[in-house]
Amino acid sequence: MPIIAPSILSADFSRLGEDVLAVEKAGADWIHVDVMDGHFVPTITLGPLVTSAVHGVTTLPLDVHLMIETPERYVDDFAKAGASLISVHVEACTHLNSTLAQIRNAGAQAGVVLNPATPLSAIDWVLEFVDLVLIMSVNPGFGGQQFIPNTLSKIRALRRIIDDRELAVLIEVDGGVNLSTIADVALAGADVFVAGSAIFGSEDYQRTIDAFRDKIKDPPQ
Ligand code: DX5
Ligand code: ZN
Repeated sequence: MPIIAPSILSADFSRLGEDVLAVEKAGADWIHVDVMDGHFVPTITLGPLVTSAVHGVTTLPLDVHLMIETPERYVDDFAKAGASLISVHVEACTHLNSTLAQIRNAGAQAGVVLNPATPLSAIDWVLEFVDLVLIMSVNPGFGGQQFIPNTLSKIRALRRIIDDRELAVLIEVDGGVNLSTIADVALAGADVFVAGSAIFGSEDYQRTIDAFRDKIKDPPQ
């Protein structure tokens, strides 16, 4: 089953609870929470307090994407705030193996994220310790950017590796996912589709999510 994860980066922060409930009602599977520290990426967004507030209004799993330096300092706080899944960037972790173990020890599922320029070989030796790999299809930091087309080859290559090694690891794709790109992303082998502006920027969240599912089900050959 494809998983649709609206990114609250593009929600209306002045009425965040209502927007989260609205996408839940519209059929979202997870809520994607983009945490940015102004160092790893230029933007500053939100932290464990807001994550915990979001956890208080929804029953959906919180998929926390940490775009921060030294994420190991905050993993436990996000787990306590109610994150079901915590993903850390390869580029931000000096001791990646240990940080992934820390996430699982804190009771969350562990994800690892690759920037567009980071090769798949960076995760060769941790693939067996993660529940999910998040492939960035834009450079992190901002919503509403254009999908980087060569990401599709990267998703296909990762799909092959995961299948060959018979691992139960989900592939998530984040950045520029919209009605024009989602079918190709699905065809390449993604399981989880993050979308910020394409969902929160639309008039009718349910119609958009339904249209996503149709495109995933029936991709152009
Ligand atoms: C980018 C974030 C994404 C972002 C996606 O740094 O990780 O989750 O919100 O936004 P869209 O879907 O608008 O590209
Ligand atoms: Zn994200």
